[in-house]
Amino acid sequence: MTHITGLIGFPTDHSLSPRIHDYWIKQYGLDASYKLFTTPPPRLRQTVNHMRKKNWRGVNVTIPHKQDVMFHVDQYDMAAHRVGAINTITNDNGILTGTNTDAYGFISNLKEGLGEVSLYLNEVIILGAGGASRAAIVALQDAGARSITIINRTYETAQALADKFGVSALPWEVRDESLQSATLLVNTTSLGMQGQPPLEIDISRLFGNAAVHDIVYAPLETDLLKCARAKGHKTVDGLGMLLYQAQLAFQHWHGILPEVTPELREHVLAQHEAERQSA
Ligand code: ATR
Repeated sequence: MTHITGLIGFPTDHSLSPRIHDYWIKQYGLDASYKLFTTPPPRLRQTVNHMRKKNWRGVNVTIPHKQDVMFHVDQYDMAAHRVGAINTITNDNGILTGTNTDAYGFISNLKEGLGEVSLYLNEVIILGAGGASRAAIVALQDAGARSITIINRTYETAQALADKFGVSALPWEVRDESLQSATLLVNTTSLGMQGQPPLEIDISRLFGNAAVHDIVYAPLETDLLKCARAKGHKTVDGLGMLLYQAQLAFQHWHGILPEVTPELREHVLAQHEAERQSA
């Protein structure tokens, strides 16, 4: 029986996930498919019930459903509980189990980019306090980060996350000064993404041995990364987070941990580039 998998979100049109999963499905010769299930918020419950009834093998869940879908599955694991969101559901004979593979995606990408990640975990500054920030905090705490500070435009949101995870929060206005003893700077906001406002930050205080990671991958090299690279910092782009969160979801559904290779990266980027040119 064909394993039906896919993405529940709204919108879903620009998702790169079908490109990633189809690549692996073909590589491993599986009888499976990955489709886009565009689901406006009022239809979420219906889509999840449909998934159960039609015995789809699993779905990824994206904006705006990652939190609401927690009410519609039968159970979710510790990863979903800790991040406070589900991005992957697996269907085992009608029992829907939610998990979150974003923290895994985040840390796997960072390890690939930095090598020995522990060298950069003394003092981490995270910009942003949304879902991606929560996944980053969980991942960095598990990796042994000694100090994490969240800096967000809305200070109250940063403070709430700081209380929940036992880390620190600072106001957006002090982001430049906060960098003077940082060993790793992570942008989890949408600033600097194509079509979004620029991320305004002055990284001149950052020590030369600090690393800079932007989870934005469109463009692949954001202004933040460009500037950091020009100053000689190690930099990590955001595409790998997308690839590695997909890797773990694929394993949940098909029992195979597929490879994240430079060829896959190129394959995904080619679609991305084609879409950018036709836009
Ligand atoms: P995600 O789940 O992908 O992390 P999100 O929950 O919408 O997305 O979070 C977006 C983050 O980008 C938030 O931290 C947001 O800050 P606020 O909490 O103040 O909204 C941040 N962000 C978005 N636009 C911003 C802007 N113009 N300036 C500063 N921060 C911004």
